[in-house]
Amino acid sequence: MSASASLSHRVKALTVSNPLVEHFKTALFVYVLLTRLLKVHRHLRARGLRSTALEYWTWLNKQLLLFALRVLPAQRKKAESEIAAAKKIIETSLIPKGEAVVRHTSLPPQGQSPAWILDEMTKMDNEIGHAEWKNGKISGAVYHGGDDLTKVIVDAYAHYAVSNPLHPDVFPAVRKMEAEVVAMCLRMFNNPNGAGATTSGGTESIIMSVKTHRDWARATKGITEPEMIVPISAHAAFDKAAAYFNIKVHTIPINMTTRQVDLSRVARAINANTIMLVGSAVNFPDGCQDDIVALGKLAAKRHVGLHVDCCLGSFIMPFLEAAGFPTTPFDFRVEGVTAISCDTHKYGFAPKGNSVIMYRNAELRTYQYYVNPTWMGGLYASPSIAGSRPGSLIAGTWAAMQYMGSEGYLESCRTIVGAAQEIARRIKAEFDGKLYVLGNPPATVVAFASRDPRVSIHEVGDIMSKKGWHLNGIINPNAIHIAATRLTVPVVDTFIADLKDAVRESISSPSGHGTMVQLYGMGKVAGALAPSITGQIATAFLDTLYKA
Ligand SMILES: *Cc1c(COP(=O)(O)O)cnc(C)c1O
Ligand SMILES: *[C@@H]1O[C@H](CO)[C@@H](O)[C@H](O)[C@H]1NC(C)=O
Repeated sequence: MSASASLSHRVKALTVSNPLVEHFKTALFVYVLLTRLLKVHRHLRARGLRSTALEYWTWLNKQLLLFALRVLPAQRKKAESEIAAAKKIIETSLIPKGEAVVRHTSLPPQGQSPAWILDEMTKMDNEIGHAEWKNGKISGAVYHGGDDLTKVIVDAYAHYAVSNPLHPDVFPAVRKMEAEVVAMCLRMFNNPNGAGATTSGGTESIIMSVKTHRDWARATKGITEPEMIVPISAHAAFDKAAAYFNIKVHTIPINMTTRQVDLSRVARAINANTIMLVGSAVNFPDGCQDDIVALGKLAAKRHVGLHVDCCLGSFIMPFLEAAGFPTTPFDFRVEGVTAISCDTHKYGFAPKGNSVIMYRNAELRTYQYYVNPTWMGGLYASPSIAGSRPGSLIAGTWAAMQYMGSEGYLESCRTIVGAAQEIARRIKAEFDGKLYVLGNPPATVVAFASRDPRVSIHEVGDIMSKKGWHLNGIINPNAIHIAATRLTVPVVDTFIADLKDAVRESISSPSGHGTMVQLYGMGKVAGALAPSITGQIATAFLDTLYKA
């Protein structure tokens, strides 16, 4: 008998004969079974039997499809050719062509002169061009504060071009400006004694808030398998954060009439692993606001965090009341709100690449920090994801806020929300009931859909694109959204007139179906694409961005 066989024999003898081990095994089995059952129970409670079954069905379908693609060459060929066709469309629409376009894919041997650089940029602009954003036909995207403000921002950049807030001893003025940007925002959101930080944009603000709540929940409640509860209408950045940090997300449906998250479903989804709830003020797809007061009550009662996403609401929401528009509470005055994200680079008119994440108190903010006391390079501490950061952007943001002032933002709120509300009012009044507005949007975004079977709203979107408009197509239900900016204000009449034409044309000469397949940030990709391959197409889109 070999040594190992003898050992295994002895172990077997021991385990079989020792009742204590038997009990232990049974206990272990029961423990594993119970924790599994608890997980299943929580999952079912949060999502309901029907959606769980549907989720499983979707998953099964995807597996079958992947399997089919592996074993059926004809299917694979078909999918591959569809993806290749889509890639072509993306490349043609993104990558400039023609003799005149010079590609610079390696360093010039000698450095170029400043005059050459400016000249080359002008040439690129002329040859490739860019969308005519100043005519106001773009939904969101360009939050232009006016040419005077742009000059103020560029001057601020120039002044602080080399600065880096990672070294506050070298650049004390940038540290001061960052602290003041945060302080001004905290006051706007009625939490002057709270705490915050600037980030590179709304997505980073949201990612930091999720990390903060995760670490807070781990430290104060010992949660090691974190879950968060997110309305289906919330920004994709929450799912992105969850994907980065491996957090389970319960996606909660909205009430299709109010477009607000279903509160009873939120309540049901909260369990001992919940770190935070999410509400939007306002959301991206239809610009509606969740019931923050009710979410706050739930969060306070169950001792979980509540992040209010005010990225898009930014410098509009805090001025709604003073501007005389109807408003419901959304800021730190609501009990239970633990964090708010606010994009200075949207309606704050700050340069792109700046946002603020705010917390109820400084203690909560400490969970956002990264500190490494033993790094070979010295004690390392940074507040957010980035190490080195652009001080010039902070200076630009500070300058924009100083230039605008309360009066400036109040006026911009009045005119922009005024334009959005006029759009909503006229869509309701002037289309013979063919179109309707989703929910009751309080701020700058208006989404509308068709209730006339002859009118495909995405086809209307296609016709609007031909008229030079860059609008966003959304789904569930199929609708179009427009985010009004300062540039939209003077073109409301044109918008309504073009929309009337587009609706008429979609009835008189229907093309069959709208092709407004959406890729966020890209406008539209033409062609009807099988949903099973849209993920791969989005990947191809990202690859294309880096094609020199
Ligand atoms: C824009 C936006 C964000 C953040 O997006 P960034 O592009 O990262 O600034 C988050 N939530 C909503 C509702 C938004 O519209
Ligand atoms: C949605 O909200 C409306 C208005 O508050 C309400 O009448 C309706 O019952 C709600 N629908 C669902 C499915 O909860």
